[in-house]
Amino acid sequence: MPARRKIALISGGSRGLGAELVTGFLDRRYGVATLSRSKTAFIADMQRGSRRRRFLWSCVDGRDPEALQAFVREVGERLGRIDVLVNNAGVAADGILATMRTREIIEVIEANLTAALVLARACSRFMLRQGSGCIVNISSVHAIRGHSVQQALAASSARAAAKDPALAELVRKEQDLTKQVNAALGTLNNVLAIPSAERDEKGVQQIQASIATLRGERDKAGRPLVVLAAATRVLPDDTYLTEMELQKRKVTLSGRSAAAARLIGPLAADGAFRNPGFAAPVTRLEALHTELFTINAEVAP
Ligand SMILES: NC(=O)c1ccc[n+]([C@@H]2O[C@H](COP(=O)([O-])OP(=O)(O)OC[C@H]3O[C@@H](n4cnc5c(N)ncnc54)[C@H](OP(=O)(O)O)[C@@H]3O)[C@@H](O)[C@H]2O)c1
Repeated sequence: MPARRKIALISGGSRGLGAELVTGFLDRRYGVATLSRSKTAFIADMQRGSRRRRFLWSCVDGRDPEALQAFVREVGERLGRIDVLVNNAGVAADGILATMRTREIIEVIEANLTAALVLARACSRFMLRQGSGCIVNISSVHAIRGHSVQQALAASSARAAAKDPALAELVRKEQDLTKQVNAALGTLNNVLAIPSAERDEKGVQQIQASIATLRGERDKAGRPLVVLAAATRVLPDDTYLTEMELQKRKVTLSGRSAAAARLIGPLAADGAFRNPGFAAPVTRLEALHTELFTINAEVAP
C-alpha cells in the first residue's frame, strides 16, 4: 500500500454503522483497519473482495487495553500511518440501574469509554508525529437528552411494531404495496409522456385501475406505518408504547405514561386519529411514577 494513502481505523467495523463507515472510507480510497470480537460475513467479504489490499481486520476485544494497543501497533507497521480514528464500537446495556449487575456496568464502561480513550491515546501518537489527524467519537443522543429519549426511542411505537410479528407483517405488506403503487405510477407517467395520438388508452386505463386496486389493498391493511408515525409524533417523551394493535381502521395503543390523561387531547387534535378514548381505567404505579394505559381510536381515512 502506498505510504501516502490515508488510513482510517474504525473500531467495531463488523456490522451496523461501523460496516457502513468501513465501506464509506474504502469508497473514498482510504486504507481501512477495523476490529471486532467476531468475524461477520461482511468482514469475510471485505477480506476476499477487490479492495482486500486496503483492508485489515483483527479479532480484538475492546475491553482488553493491551490487545487494542497491539492492534494499533500492527496497523502502524502494516499500513504506515493513521489519519482518522473512529471510535464506533459500543454496546448498550439497557436496564434499571438498581437491578444491574456490577459486571454489566464495568463491561459497558470498558467497551464504550475506556477502549475509546486507549485507542485515542495510541492513535494520537501517530497523528502527532504526522502533524495531522482526526478522531471521531460516536456517541448517542442519550448522552445529551437522557433516558426519556431512550424510552421514547427504544420503546417507541416503531420499535414496538418491529417486535410484534403480526404488526411487522402488516408494515412489510404496506411497504411492498407502496413500492408497487410507486412503480405503477412511474409506468403511468412514462405512458402519459407519449403523445396522445400514439398512446394506448386502454393500457393507460389498465394501469390506473391497477393503481386503484393496489391503493385499496394498502388501505385495507390499515396503513400501519402512517399510524406508527402519527403515534410517535403525538406521544410525548415521557410516554411509550408497549403494544399496538391495528385492525383495519381501529387501533389500540397500550403503554406507560407519566400522565396518561393528557394523551387523549393531542391524539384527538391530530388528523391521523378519530374519537380516542380509554379502553379501560388507567392504572397508576406509584413506585414507578407511571401510569398504564390502553387507548382505542379510529384511524382517519
Ligand atoms: N443503533 C443505534 O440505535 C445507536 C443509538 C445511539 C448510539 N449508537 C452508537 O453507535 C455505535 C454503532 O452502533 P451500531 O448500532 O452500529 O452497533 P452494532 O450494530 O451493535 O455494532 C457494534 C460494533 O461494535 C463491535 N463491538 C462491540 N463490543 C465490542 C468489543 N468489546 N470489542 C470490540 N468490538 C466490539 C461489534 O462487534 P462484535 O460484537 O463482534 O465485537 C460491532 O462491530 C455504537 O457506539 C453505539 O453505541 C447506536
